[in-house]
Amino acid sequence: MNLNLTVSLNAFVNMFREFEIHEYSFFIKHAFRVAKIVRELSKFLSLPVDSDYVYLMGLLHQIGLPLIAATEHPEFFRQKFGKISDMEELSKTFSGGEKHPIVSKQILSSVRFLPQNLSNAIFYHRDPSKCMDLERTLSYSLMTADIVARKAAMYESLHSKFLEETVYEIKEHKEIPDTVKDAMLKILSRYSFAYLIDDQPRFFSEKELTLEEFGSLAKLLVFLLDFRSTFTRNHSILVAEVSKKIAEEILSEEDGRLVYIAGLLHDIGKIRISPQLLHKASRLNEQEMFVMKTHVLETYKILSESGIAPCVTNIAAAHHERLDGSGYPLGLTAKNLMIHQRILQVADVFVALIEERPYRRALSVPEAFEILESEIERGRLDTRIFEALKQIINEGNLNIPESFLIPDYIRFSSSKFSEGR
Ligand SMILES: [Fe+2]
Ligand SMILES: [Fe+2]
Ligand SMILES: [Fe+2]
Repeated sequence: MNLNLTVSLNAFVNMFREFEIHEYSFFIKHAFRVAKIVRELSKFLSLPVDSDYVYLMGLLHQIGLPLIAATEHPEFFRQKFGKISDMEELSKTFSGGEKHPIVSKQILSSVRFLPQNLSNAIFYHRDPSKCMDLERTLSYSLMTADIVARKAAMYESLHSKFLEETVYEIKEHKEIPDTVKDAMLKILSRYSFAYLIDDQPRFFSEKELTLEEFGSLAKLLVFLLDFRSTFTRNHSILVAEVSKKIAEEILSEEDGRLVYIAGLLHDIGKIRISPQLLHKASRLNEQEMFVMKTHVLETYKILSESGIAPCVTNIAAAHHERLDGSGYPLGLTAKNLMIHQRILQVADVFVALIEERPYRRALSVPEAFEILESEIERGRLDTRIFEALKQIINEGNLNIPESFLIPDYIRFSSSKFSEGR
């Protein structure tokens, strides 16, 4: 189904914006400011690069930072990541400051359509003198945008005092080349600067991405989503991988790509669930469970407002529905649940069972299968899909750890499987 389905770059940017909440509020705000400033610089300098991709470079320039914080400094991440209003402090607090360009670049290596010189500029933006030509100008632009955005984080209003100090800092900077300095100073002097970095109308690009290209970006969001809790670290990626294998087995490769995207994004609504609830170490009570269940509606809202194809949204938002009507949020029944949705349902339950939870250990595959069987007997999950899953596992066709695109460095310091409710 849906041959040649594409997803617009706008959809990714819209989803990324949803992450400006809880632990990530400051981090994402900074990312958007850097993106806007660096795109403006590249236009001003007439750099021969696609300005949508320059924007993307700005958005993703420190994508490694929260992942380093979450794996190496979980307490800091939990308590402070979203509260710090000064990026300098964040960099000084732990080694993530120096390490983030390396990790960010490693993570971005999976985003193959992003031009190489842009990901290299991310790698060098703390030390642009190490590269040449266009890459050098790009890294200096990124460095400059980063400096201005960090300064902006220290001020309530982006007028007088902020402008005065930022202009001074840029002028006095020993490394930034004059061309980049001049461009930045001109942009800062425009009356519209504050508008540019905060209120400017929404990002709009005409770029359409293939499902694979979009998937490589969506995976970055999924890291941010699932790394919020040690127990969910690999959840969405596992669900996506398992769903893809099943779809390839009983449908087609194209269907595999489609459910993969839906699998990645199925729990994206959890970004709106508070850290307190997410980190609760015991079973949730009825009231908390009710709140937790709202994540599906939030997934629906985020995806349908992002501009992604409705078929992806419909698959993702039905992952807690059950064939006998006992699921949520709509209580749909078998006649309304199509095969892609059923695949995701089985994959989500299976993955959740083999993951550790704060209140129980991870189940073995045979134990998980037993539970899935009883769900099927009760008429809740699709037997044909379960059979396909069993076959895939029995044939050793699910080499899960290999398919993670988390850099080794992070993968090995994080716990093997995780929670996910
Ligand atoms: Fe930055
Ligand atoms: Fe869910
Ligand atoms: Fe899930």
